[in-house]
Amino acid sequence: MNKCVRAKITALGTYVPPRVMTNADFEKIVETSDEWIISRTGIRERHVVKKGVATSDLAVEAAKCALIQRGIDASEIEAIVVATVTPDMLFPSTACLVQHKLGVKGIWGFDLSAACSAFVYALQAGAQFVATGAHKKVLVIGADVMSSILDYTDRATCILFGDGAGAVLLEPSEDDSGLIDFKHEIDGSGACALYMPGGGSLHPSTHETVDKKMHVVHQDGQAVFKFAVKKMAEVCETLLERNGVKAADIDCFVPHQANQRIIKATAERLGLRPEGVIINIDRYGNTTAGTIPLAMQTAREDGRLKKGDLVLLASVGAGFTVGATLLRWTI
Ligand SMILES: CC(C)(COP(=O)(O)OP(=O)(O)OC[C@H]1O[C@@H](n2cnc3c(N)ncnc32)[C@H](O)[C@@H]1OP(=O)(O)O)[C@@H](O)C(=O)NCCC(=O)NCCS
Repeated sequence: MNKCVRAKITALGTYVPPRVMTNADFEKIVETSDEWIISRTGIRERHVVKKGVATSDLAVEAAKCALIQRGIDASEIEAIVVATVTPDMLFPSTACLVQHKLGVKGIWGFDLSAACSAFVYALQAGAQFVATGAHKKVLVIGADVMSSILDYTDRATCILFGDGAGAVLLEPSEDDSGLIDFKHEIDGSGACALYMPGGGSLHPSTHETVDKKMHVVHQDGQAVFKFAVKKMAEVCETLLERNGVKAADIDCFVPHQANQRIIKATAERLGLRPEGVIINIDRYGNTTAGTIPLAMQTAREDGRLKKGDLVLLASVGAGFTVGATLLRWTI
C-alpha cells in the first residue's frame, strides 16, 4: 500500500441548461405565489432541461469545463464517480454514459446514490482513490435532472428543485492543502420523509404505480426541514471540533442549497461569518447533487472562495444522508 496523500481539487466546472423557470411560471401551473416561494425557500428561479436532455448530458458539459480549466485531455482521467439520484436510466450507470460521451477508453467509474449528500459522498469516494495512490486523476461529478421526477401538480415539491451539474477534478496534493477531513452519517429511519417509491424492485413500474404517482418525489417537508436544521449543524460541529477549527477560522461555508432558511439557521448555530456563507438557491433552486459545485462556482465568481481558504461543505438529503467536509481550497 502506498503512503496516503491528501486529495485536492484542481479544477471546477459547472453547467445548467439554458431554460429558466421563474416563480411567475409556477404561479401559472399551481396555486402558489412568488412571495410564498421566496419567503419560505429563497428560490426565485431554477434551470430546467428541454425534453430529451438527460443527466449524463449535463454531467459531460460540467466535466468538459473542468478539463478545459485544468488544460488536460479527457484521456488523462483515470476514474469517474457520478453522484446522482436521477441517472439517465437504472442501468447502465451514468458514469458509463459519461465516459463514452467524453470519448475516453480504458478507465472505470460508477454512480453513487446519496441524494442531496451525493456530491460530498462522491468527493470522499474519489479522494480515497487518490489518497491510496490508486489513481492520480479522478473526476467527481454531481448532476441531477430533478425535473424528470417531479409532480408538476404538487406545489409543495415542484417549486423546490432545478436541474444542474458540477464537476471537480481530484489530484494528489503535495502539501497540507486539499481535503482535510469529513463526517458522514446515514439514517434510514427517515427514508419515507423524502423518497420516490416507484420504479425500483419494491414497486416495479406498472400502470398502477404511475396512476398512484409513485414515480415522482414525495416529501414530508417539515420532517426534512427539522432534521436538516438539526443534523447539518451537528455534523459540522463534530468535524470542526475534532480538527481544532473554530467557526471564525472558516473562510467559506458552501452548504447544500435546499432551503435558504435551513442554510441561515445552520450558519447561525455554528456562528459562521454571514459574508462567508454561500447562497445561490435564488438562481438554481435545489439541484440535488449539483448544488455544492454550483455554489462553489458562485463563490469563486464572487471572489469569496480563494486559494488557501479554509472551506466547510455541508449537506443533508434523502435517506436521510448527512455530510460535512473540511478542506483547504487549492485553485
Ligand atoms: C417544503 C417547505 C418549503 C414547506 O414550507 P413550510 O413552511 O414547512 O410549509 P408547510 O409544509 O408547513 O405548509 C404550509 C402551508 O403552505 C402550503 N404550501 C405548500 N407549498 C406551497 C406553495 N408552493 N405555495 C403556496 N403554499 C404552499 C401548504 O399546503 C400549507 O398549507 P395549509 O397550511 O393550508 O395546509 C419546507 O418544509 C422545506 O423546505 N422543507 C425541507 C425541504 C427540503 O429541503 N428538501 C430537500 C432536502 S435535500
